[in-house]
Amino acid sequence: MDKIIIDGGKPLRGVVPIGGAKNATLPILVATLVAPGEHRLARVPDLADVGSMLSLLGRIGCPSLGHAGLVSVDTTRVIYNEAPYDLVRKMRASVLALGPLLARCGEAHVSLPGGCAIGVRPIDQHLKGLEALGCQFELSGGYVHGKVAQLTGGRVRFDMPTVTGTENVLMAAVLAKGESVFENAAREPEIVDLVRFLRSLGAIIEGEGSSTLHVQGVPSLTPAKAPYAILPDRVEAGTYLVAGAITGGDITIQGVNPGDLSAVLDALLSAGCTIDVGDDTVRVRREGPVRPVNVTTEPHPGFPTDMQAQLMALLCLAQGESEIRETIFENRFMHVPELQRLGANIDVFGNLARTKGVRQLTGATVMATDLRASASLVLAGLAARGRTEVLRLYHLDRGYERLVEKLQAVGAQVARVGDDPRERAGQPGAAA
Ligand code: EPU
Repeated sequence: MDKIIIDGGKPLRGVVPIGGAKNATLPILVATLVAPGEHRLARVPDLADVGSMLSLLGRIGCPSLGHAGLVSVDTTRVIYNEAPYDLVRKMRASVLALGPLLARCGEAHVSLPGGCAIGVRPIDQHLKGLEALGCQFELSGGYVHGKVAQLTGGRVRFDMPTVTGTENVLMAAVLAKGESVFENAAREPEIVDLVRFLRSLGAIIEGEGSSTLHVQGVPSLTPAKAPYAILPDRVEAGTYLVAGAITGGDITIQGVNPGDLSAVLDALLSAGCTIDVGDDTVRVRREGPVRPVNVTTEPHPGFPTDMQAQLMALLCLAQGESEIRETIFENRFMHVPELQRLGANIDVFGNLARTKGVRQLTGATVMATDLRASASLVLAGLAARGRTEVLRLYHLDRGYERLVEKLQAVGAQVARVGDDPRERAGQPGAAA
């Protein structure tokens, strides 16, 4: 089994380049279905989830070239309107194929994603929104089967702001007849990026970044000539900022939209870090102690649930007691027992985690059940005294591009070892 080995306790210093956002790339890749032809995307991150989405497109009949950096996808023909179980179970974001396939083919069959490690994660809002545009659904054999004779604009009021729900319905609404209005839509930067991409194909959409979206459907869309560059990954960016903070180091993240990081920067400032914001850089330094912080996860622009586990790792070392309330997912404290194995003092009461800071974490073998939880364990390991081994790396591979190399480049003593020679990245101590 592959693992990451960290010899912790060393302040990290240097510059970390940030890649394209996983959660913008996935919807944008599948959105290429709404405009038949050849699409080119730039700043596509080299991630397992991106590979899974390209496999899904391939299965549908849309070949691609490249899997990182510049990727081209040819959606001239769709020969299969299904997102099968073997792909959806690997990556729930495959459910994003539903809206585009209905818009493209008038019929779609998508395996139900089911629950996952962090929560139940139903897709009722996706279906409700698509129904408002005239789609009909039947659930059978673990699949949702959708049909629509003519997509027609409608009013969609989401019960809660859902990121992929908003994206799924949006990708259908762009080709509906007439106007659609979305209320209580999600406002995440990844939605804004999807809107910009759809606009580059000729879609007419207003209101991105607010909770009301107006979509004027058009009869057809065409691939843009210039490659579309995916927005920078704010969660990857935030994770490296915490790496600087937790090790008492000095890290600059490069190629980011600092405005997308406001809630995370506020939390790091409250935790005692010094932050310098440039046009597309953020520098974090920490010389004094970590101060306790209370945070509640919220839809954007609130503190993101995808940074909750990483912030908790930092607060494990605070001088005092911090509270983190998780309001987005019902089971997103799976990292707590693993952080405890590293010496953290955390009590969980329902959706509230109370962390009493300790002077020092100590290395241990840990594993996690989801992507961001795994990231928090790597961060804790970077600060811990002694050796930490992080197992189940497939979670990290889904969302962090060249994690070990990026950490080594800022001085971390970290290495990946395992059976797959392509995944080997030197031994601990070989750090730059
Ligand atoms: N919800 C419903 N019904 C729905 C849709 C959502 O009840 O039909 C609930 C969810 O169960 C959850 C809340 O609404 O309690 C918000 O979930 P949302 O739909 O916004 O989450 P998502 O679209 O499934 C995306 C990201 C997640 C990120 C969340 C929240 C992608 C591919 N995934 O998931 O990213 O945590 O938004 O910001 O965009 C990650 O990258 O590690 C990750 C989990």
